[in-house]
Amino acid sequence: MNDISPTIAVHKPTPHESASRHVSGAAIYIDDMKQKEGLLHAWVICSTHAHAKLLNVDLSAVAGAPGVACVLTAADIPGMNDAGPILPGEPLLAEREVTTIGEPIAVVAAATLAQARDAAGLARITYEDLPAILSIEDAVAAESYVVAPMLLKRGDVDTAMAAAPLRLNGEAQAGGQDHFYLETQIAQAEPGEDGAMHVFSSTQHPTEVQHIVARLLGRPLAALTVEVRRMGGGFGGKESHASLIAGMAALCANKTGRPVKLRLVRDADMVITGKRHDVNAKFEVGYDADGHILAMDMEIALRCGNVADLSGPVLTRALCHADNAYWLPHVRVRGLAAKTNTVSNTAFRGFGGPQGVFAIEAVITHLAAALGKSADEIRRVNYYAPGRDITPYGQHIGADNLPRVLAELETEIAGRREAVAAFNASSRLLKKGFAVMPVKFGISFNLPTLNQAGALVHVYTDGSVHLNHGGTEMGQGLYVKIAQVVAEGFSIDLEHVHVSATRTDKVPNTSATAASSGTDINGMAALAAVSTIKGRMAEVAAARLESVPEEIVFARNRVYAGNRSISFPELALACWADRVSLSATGFYKTPEIHFDQASMTGHPFYYFAHGACGVEAVIDTLTGEARILSANLIQDCGTSLNPAVDIGQVEGAFVQGMGWVMMEELVWDGQGNLKTHAPSTYKIPTARDVPPVFVTKLLENAPNAKPTIFRSKAVGEPPFMLAIGCFLAVQEAVAAAAGWERALTLRAPATPEAVLRALRG
Ligand code: MTE
Ligand code: HPA
Ligand code: MOS
Repeated sequence: MNDISPTIAVHKPTPHESASRHVSGAAIYIDDMKQKEGLLHAWVICSTHAHAKLLNVDLSAVAGAPGVACVLTAADIPGMNDAGPILPGEPLLAEREVTTIGEPIAVVAAATLAQARDAAGLARITYEDLPAILSIEDAVAAESYVVAPMLLKRGDVDTAMAAAPLRLNGEAQAGGQDHFYLETQIAQAEPGEDGAMHVFSSTQHPTEVQHIVARLLGRPLAALTVEVRRMGGGFGGKESHASLIAGMAALCANKTGRPVKLRLVRDADMVITGKRHDVNAKFEVGYDADGHILAMDMEIALRCGNVADLSGPVLTRALCHADNAYWLPHVRVRGLAAKTNTVSNTAFRGFGGPQGVFAIEAVITHLAAALGKSADEIRRVNYYAPGRDITPYGQHIGADNLPRVLAELETEIAGRREAVAAFNASSRLLKKGFAVMPVKFGISFNLPTLNQAGALVHVYTDGSVHLNHGGTEMGQGLYVKIAQVVAEGFSIDLEHVHVSATRTDKVPNTSATAASSGTDINGMAALAAVSTIKGRMAEVAAARLESVPEEIVFARNRVYAGNRSISFPELALACWADRVSLSATGFYKTPEIHFDQASMTGHPFYYFAHGACGVEAVIDTLTGEARILSANLIQDCGTSLNPAVDIGQVEGAFVQGMGWVMMEELVWDGQGNLKTHAPSTYKIPTARDVPPVFVTKLLENAPNAKPTIFRSKAVGEPPFMLAIGCFLAVQEAVAAAAGWERALTLRAPATPEAVLRALRG
């Protein structure tokens, strides 16, 4: 059976499968579903103390309030009160003690949302305060960690450091970030017959929602079905934390026998659910007069919040990205998972990678400042190169497209640095900065087991195809990409492939759609299912066309044996008539990868995705306001499956990253209250903040050296880190205004206050 060559569906800029429904409002999210008879609305009653004993939880007024059907605490959980995605001991509802503000204590369900909210306000909870740890520094001083400290090392750092001609110490800090998905966390649980339950959840991880609901209810997994058609954004925030919402809805549905919807309003979502980990990094670097890094000793501390959640793997990825694109012959990176009495931080686009990359870019900046050289010059001498191409965790870099990306970028940005220097020479109050930012990002879940996926494909007798797979759609365009893969596999037009909602009863035991690997792994699983069906169809075609299966070619909606052919729908019908199955599952596991967590060595990533950008910033030295004037981005997506979707991912990731390093500031008060819990006080980037010159290109003629799905590369997270270039450009501008000593004190996000603080001290 030969395969076809010129493509029919892949490598084309096909619109997102819901593009017109997204913009017209016709796309159905959970809150848009037709209201079920007897539907109850839930509201969460949360801790208002950062760390305290629960002396008394009086819910009698809540229970007696109008419309209330149930109010549940930990004591009402029939199964286990544990929602930990990896480690046990992370209660869904607080028992005797609360360890953060926003920790759920009880959940109330009532006939209307307003009744549930009003009833929740009647809860009378008395606390006895305990000492609270709020900051990374205090947690580290108290050795308060959610997982044990980690150590990633190679070579002999102490000897190399002592022998280095020059040494410096420095620090870098970046704040956290709220996911600010447009659809806040939501779930609707519907009890069925015989203990069954159907849970609609806005989740990146339907299987984990199934597991946690099963654990809470004490039911077998097979009794529970979790379904998600689409999310209004996830960005990692719905990787593990969606199961908390679904869990509370399921408890109420189980108790009342009625469908229950729990939708967090924005303020509640921002207080109750976790965010990006803020990071404190400290480093000592040994180097020479050319700027070569000879030894690096770094400590990366993340604020993890009150429980571990995914912080272990997040910290691991941070350590495995503290090299970014640079060769570190002797290196030691210590990772600290600070346990604090703040909300549990979780996955967020890049999953710790951005924090590690941010830290080493600060090292580059410090070296440039110390040597009076440009950061570009320091980067140039430290990039991975043949013979200097093993990561600190022992993985060979393999195919390295970064030199090509950087070379193309240089043509894009020719003359910009000079123009910025000329501007600064003649401008007193406004100062500009220009920065180039390279990114290398490892693709695969850094826990090898998670790199598996499944799919289910049916061909019907009219030639139309039903597609289901384990990946979830959160706006990133996964569904259209996998449909393209299936259409290509059968060589039929895309319109014949119908995608369907992700469900745990169609494809079981899936991984989260995360680590940017959704297309890589679900695409391969779907293609495997297609191959199985095609193999069977080829036998039927061979019989009808008087040929042999090996000679059968699927091409452009027809199936050929030499010059005889039959249409794809005719063949589907013929298969049915011959009693041949037209349905198959497919499975895929990523090859080659392994990682030993204890020694932090191995080959955790199937391949690397590379990108680079050039960013120009301007600051107003009187107000501290910074703006990005231009950004030129080049991202390696291999042979892109869908350049329109991929460019959207690169642009979106960059703007979201801009938010992280430029303007999104989470502020807690001394009691641990999040003061920025709504868009009135928490500023995300909007259309006005997008650089007026914003040019995104995909690296051309760059098929993935690994046999990934149609030689494409993952794109969801890698370009997020390009936006660190915005911070670096602002820092260059601060240096132009006030010198490097001041500029090195800049912290992310580079809000006007932060820029002024750096300028004036
Ligand atoms: N794009 C949109 N529009 N919405 C999202 O929630 N999540 C990002 C990225 N792009 C996200 C997105 C994150 S964190 C990841 S890991 C990937 O998409 C997940 O999808 P993929 O593996 O299919 O790329
Ligand atoms: N990314 C996202 N989620 C994960 C990862 C990862 O690398 N590892 C474990 N869970
Ligand atoms: Mo993305 S942080 O891996 O969901």
